[in-house]
Amino acid sequence: MSTPVASPGPSDSVLVRAARRQEVSHTPVWFMRQAGRSLPEYRAIRADVPMLESCRTPDLVSEITLQPVRRHGVDAAIFFSDIVVPLQAVGVDLDIVAGTGPVVAHPVRTRADLERLPELTPDQVPDITESVTRLVAELGDTPLIGFAGAPFTLASYLVEGGPSKNHERTKALMHGDPELWHDLCARLAQISLAFLRVQADAGASVVQLFDSWAGHLSRADYLRHVEPHSRAVLEGIHATHPDVPRIHFGVGTGELLTSMAEAGADVIGVDYRVSLTDAVERTGGRYAVQGNLDPALLFAPWPALEHRVREIVEEGRQAPGHIFNLGHGVLPSTDPDVITRVVELVHEVSAR
Ligand code: CP3
Repeated sequence: MSTPVASPGPSDSVLVRAARRQEVSHTPVWFMRQAGRSLPEYRAIRADVPMLESCRTPDLVSEITLQPVRRHGVDAAIFFSDIVVPLQAVGVDLDIVAGTGPVVAHPVRTRADLERLPELTPDQVPDITESVTRLVAELGDTPLIGFAGAPFTLASYLVEGGPSKNHERTKALMHGDPELWHDLCARLAQISLAFLRVQADAGASVVQLFDSWAGHLSRADYLRHVEPHSRAVLEGIHATHPDVPRIHFGVGTGELLTSMAEAGADVIGVDYRVSLTDAVERTGGRYAVQGNLDPALLFAPWPALEHRVREIVEEGRQAPGHIFNLGHGVLPSTDPDVITRVVELVHEVSAR
C-alpha cells in the first residue's frame, strides 16, 4: 500500500482561500447553474423525473452535482437543489414548472397564511443531509457550495404565488402591513438559516445566499425591510460555522452592493452590469468579489469572449479575493464546451 499523501482538504482549497482573501495559486472558477439543462447528461438523467423530486433523491442529487465538476474541471461544486426546497419541506404546496419557475398553490398574504408556515427543523430534510454527506465524501479536495434563498426572494415567490416581473403584491405587503412583512421575513430567515446549517453540518465548505430579486428594491427599502433578515441568516451561519465563508448574491444590485456586503458577507456577488473595479471601489476593497461574465457572452465568437474573460481576471486582481463566475446563471442553450474552455482560460491566465 502506498503512503497516503497529506491532502489540503476542501477547507484549504483555492476557492475557500479566495473567499477568505488569502493567497491563491490561480483564480478559482465555478458557474451559477453549472448543473442543469446546458448539459446533455443532465437532460438525460432528468428526462422522467420532476425537478423537485430530483432535488429530494440523493442518488440524483449527487450525480447531477458532480456532472459539471467532472466535465468542466471547475473549482467548486454547487449543491443541486433549489431555493424553494426548504419551503416544500415545511409543507408549502408548490411545484417548479419547467420554463417558468416555482409556482405556489396558496400564496401567503395574510396573518393566517403566515401561521400556516412552520419553522424548518433538520429532521424534515434527512435527504439533504444524506446528499451533502455523500457529495463531500466523493468530492475530496473540491469544495461543495451550499446555498439558500434570501428572505426577500423567497417572500416574493410566496406572496406573488410564482415568478413576478414587478413584485407588486410583495411590495404592497411590505409597505401596507410592515409588521406582517417583518414576521414573514423573520420566519423565512429561520427557514433559510436552518437549511444552510443542515448543509454546513454535513460538510459544505462555503455557502451562498441568493437574493436574486433584491435589485428590484430601492436602497432605502432594502435597508429597512430586507437587510435585517438577510443579516440574521448571514450572521447566524457565521455564529455556528465561523470557518464557512458566505457569498451574498443578487441581480441588478449595483446600488445595493455596499449594503449587501455589509449585511454579513465575505464575498459579494457582482452581476454583469457593474464592473468588478466599481464593485471593489463601492465595497471599500474589504470584500472578496465573485463574478461577473455576462452569461450571454458565452454565445459570442471565441476571440470576443476570450478578451472579456481576460479583462475580468485582470479586474479581479484589484480585489482582495476573486472568484470567477457569471453575472447570473448559465443559460440552458449554452454550448457546454465553451464553458470548459472558459475554465481552462481562467486557470491559465490567472496562474501565479
Ligand atoms: O447549478 C446550480 O446553480 C445549482 C442548482 C440551483 C438551481 N436553482 C437548480 C435549478 C440553484 C443554486 C438554484 C437557485 C434558484 N432557484 C434561484 C436563485 C438563483 C437565480 O437563478 O437567481 C432562483 C430564483 C430559483 C427559482 C427557480 N428554480 C427558477 C427561476 C427556475 C428556472 C425555471 C426554468 O425552467 O427556467 C428554477 C428551476 C431550476 N432550478 C432549474 C435548475 C437546474 C431548471 C429545472 C429544469 O431543469 O427544468
